[in-house]
Amino acid sequence: MRDSSNPIGVFDSGVGGLTVMDAIMRRLPDESLIYLGDTARVPYGTKSADTVIRYARSCAGILVERGIKLLVVACNTASAYAIDALSKELDIPVLGVIEPGARRAVAATGSGRIGVIGTVGTIRSERYQKVIKALAPASHVFCKACPLFVPLAEEGWTTGSVPLLTASAYLSELLHQEIDTLVLGCTHYPLLKRTIAETVGANVALVDSAEATSEAVCEALSEQGLLQDANSTAKRTFLVTDDPDSFARTGRRFLNDAITSIEWVDVT
Ligand code: DGL
Repeated sequence: MRDSSNPIGVFDSGVGGLTVMDAIMRRLPDESLIYLGDTARVPYGTKSADTVIRYARSCAGILVERGIKLLVVACNTASAYAIDALSKELDIPVLGVIEPGARRAVAATGSGRIGVIGTVGTIRSERYQKVIKALAPASHVFCKACPLFVPLAEEGWTTGSVPLLTASAYLSELLHQEIDTLVLGCTHYPLLKRTIAETVGANVALVDSAEATSEAVCEALSEQGLLQDANSTAKRTFLVTDDPDSFARTGRRFLNDAITSIEWVDVT
C-alpha cells in the first residue's frame, strides 16, 4: 500500500532494531512506525540462512498486513540473508541496513581499508564485503564476528573493564590490518560505541548502520513521494512474538523514547 500517511514497518530479531527505529524517529519525527521484534525466535545471528529467510518472510508478512508503506529490515543478519528475497517478493520499497552502512564506510575511508563487525551469520554471509567491493573495487575489507557484544549490550554492560577487554580481544586482529574505518554491522553495537571507539582509537572512523539507514529511509520516501506531512500525529506501535514485559525492560536501553502499548503477535 503506497500512501504517505501509512506507517513505516521496521523488524528485527528482538530489541536491537530499536537503535534503527530510534535513528528513524530522530530524522523523521512525523512518520508513524510499526516495530516488530521477533523475540520468540531471537537470536538470528547464530541461525542458518534458510531459517533466517523463513523468519524474515513471516515478519515482513505481519507488517505488510498492517498496511506499511515501506519496510526496513533493521536486523543486519536478516538484511544479509533475506533482503534479495524480500525485495523481489514485496510490492513496497524494502530497505536493509547493509547497503547504507557500506555506502557510508566507502565515503568515510581514506586508505580503503575497512573493518566490519557483526554476528556470526552476518560475517559468514560475506554480504558487507560484496556490497563494499561493488562500490569500491580497490578497497580491502576485514571482518570479525563479535557475538559477545550482543549480550553485553542487552545487559547494559557497555562501559568498564569487561566490555573493554572483550572489545580489545575481538578488535586487535582488525587493528593489525590498519583499518581506518569500522562498520558497526549489528543492531546492538551502537550501544558499545564509546568502548569500541576507545579500543580502536581516534584514527578509526566508526560507521553506525542505524544512522546510515535512517538517512536512506528519508531519501527513499522523498524519492517516492511518500514522506508524511509535517505536523501530523506520529503513532508508534510495538509488536513482539514473546513476552511484552521483558521487551519493554530491555528495549529501554535501545530506544530513547517510551515503549508503550506492546502487542503480542503469533508466529507459530
Ligand atoms: N539483530 C541482530 C543483528 O543485527 C543481532 C541479534 C541477533 O543475533 O538476533 O544481526
